[in-house]
Amino acid sequence: MRSRRALAGAAAGLAAGLALLAAAAAPRHQQPATQADDEGRRVYDKWCAGCHGEDGRGDGPGAGPVLPKPRDFTRALYQVRTTATGEIPTDADIRHVVDEGMPGTSMPAWKTTLSGGEREAVVRYLKSFSSAFATAPTALRFGRNPGGGRAAVDSGGALYRRIECWKCHGEAGRGDGRSAPTLKDDFGNPIRATDLTQNWTFNGGASVEDIYRVLRTGLDGTPMPSFSDLIEGNIITDDDLWRVATYVRSLSPEEPPRVRDVVSAARIEGSLPAGPDDSAWARADGYYFPLVGQVIVKPRWFAPTVSGVWVQALHNGQALALRVTWHDPSQSPDTSWNVWRGRITRSMTSDDSVPADTTSPLPDRLAVQFPARVPRGMERPYFLMGSAEQPVYLWQWESEPRAAAEGLARGVGQFEPLAGAADTLASAAVYDHGEWRVQLVRALATADSANQLQFVPGRAIPMAIFAWDGSNGETGTRMSVGSWVAIYLGEPARAGTYLWPLLAMLSTGGLGLVVIVRAQRSAGSSKQPSDTADSEAV
Ligand code: HEC
Ligand code: HEC
Repeated sequence: MRSRRALAGAAAGLAAGLALLAAAAAPRHQQPATQADDEGRRVYDKWCAGCHGEDGRGDGPGAGPVLPKPRDFTRALYQVRTTATGEIPTDADIRHVVDEGMPGTSMPAWKTTLSGGEREAVVRYLKSFSSAFATAPTALRFGRNPGGGRAAVDSGGALYRRIECWKCHGEAGRGDGRSAPTLKDDFGNPIRATDLTQNWTFNGGASVEDIYRVLRTGLDGTPMPSFSDLIEGNIITDDDLWRVATYVRSLSPEEPPRVRDVVSAARIEGSLPAGPDDSAWARADGYYFPLVGQVIVKPRWFAPTVSGVWVQALHNGQALALRVTWHDPSQSPDTSWNVWRGRITRSMTSDDSVPADTTSPLPDRLAVQFPARVPRGMERPYFLMGSAEQPVYLWQWESEPRAAAEGLARGVGQFEPLAGAADTLASAAVYDHGEWRVQLVRALATADSANQLQFVPGRAIPMAIFAWDGSNGETGTRMSVGSWVAIYLGEPARAGTYLWPLLAMLSTGGLGLVVIVRAQRSAGSSKQPSDTADSEAV
């Protein structure tokens, strides 16, 4: 996949930088010096030690404030295996994960950066970090996918409920199960029950075969169990487990969402949708925008909940309706997440000063940002909520008390609401099994043109989106941020006439994300779905 490769390359760049750092450090890992080992060590020191540490203990300078942490190889704990839970992996297993990386974490794929010989040598070298590899492992015998189409999905879904995957992953698979706020890995770090509707973030891969393998072997070191014992105990059959994997695969789209630069708001006749679940939205195009942790200004945030939003827009010549949908496993404030919030805050302490208070209620929040007026040329305010000289015009929605407000911002956290009657924004929201759907509506033209953006059909208008998960301790600058994209309100008859300004703006599209991703890289790295950083933007 194009974008995944781009991110791997980017991470490799980071690793190269870190390797320089690491090269300055002192004692070497003790090793019998054969030629093959020398090659493995050379590759490891150059490309891996920056994160995994000189001695393989997972403590390289690039380990930084990220979750999950780079693996400590001295523990011989491997997740992506064809062997039973608790077992060491086969050489082919390690080779597979080195080739493909671990999507959804900062572990890059190496198949395009390193030669086959280099990857083979580094696998041998990794094994030398632990004596557990003295005995040879045995791979489990995997059955074959029995297929079965729609019926397999249905029966897999019934099993998903029966064997209680939902307790962690939630009824709709969005990582919002009852146990989700309590989960931690073997090292005491909080860990998310994966959102099963986003298979491009699965550590072990996105396919039915990859999912089946994880169900057979578990993800050692995490609460994700192995289900091989259900087969051995004749509680379910191997075919059943394939059906569960088929069901899980069906929760994600065929392809990962494409990242685009422009939301097209189609013009409709008559009234706009009455709320976020109005059937009219089913016919409107959806656009996916990745968000990343805010790491530019302090306090920075490397463990954001919201990794992307879907945006839809419609207008009727009088008003604009926007529907923003995103996944968040809690409807904040929710006290059952207080323990999680304390843990995640402590796990991130290596970054900035930690707030002492991790229990006062914080809402979920969404901000939609526009320039204060439609720009004439290409200039746009600073993407992170403007500046003193060039403010931005913001829509800010909160879950508690549930309301939206309009305002101006002059820099991050400098939100000034527009007073009383000047507030012309209407909002409606639905929280449903780990998903927020929020509709925002405003008249295209308003009386206060000095403070409020006046929407004009036929022009590309810059727009950016930010999100906060209160249950994850997100407030102020601890948030998910997106770069400038554009919204384009369609016109009934003359569509196409105004393409030029749009194309001009697009030629700089994605620039914002480049800035963010660069800053992230130099500040460390972050657990992000690798596909969310599209190659156009990197
Ligand atoms: C940018 C940081 C980074 C770099 C560079 C990096 N890794 Fe990793 N690696 C990680 C993280 C983070 C994990 C743990 C992911 C998890 O636990 O989900 C990991 C996990 C692994 C694992 C465990 C796989 C499993 O099945 O559990 C292997 C093997 C591995 N890395 C090999 C390598 C090798 C070899 C290199 C160099 C060629 C390398 N890594 C470079 C971050 C990095
Ligand atoms: C006790 C809680 C718990 C239960 C029960 C559970 N899981 Fe998980 N699962 C997790 C956690 C935590 C992770 C994330 C591990 C990580 O990020 O390394 C996970 C990860 C996954 C993944 C992603 C794998 C990958 O490659 O990253 C899939 C798919 C999955 N689970 C499916 C299931 C299915 C299907 C069931 C029921 C048969 C199930 N899980 C039961 C906690 C659970």
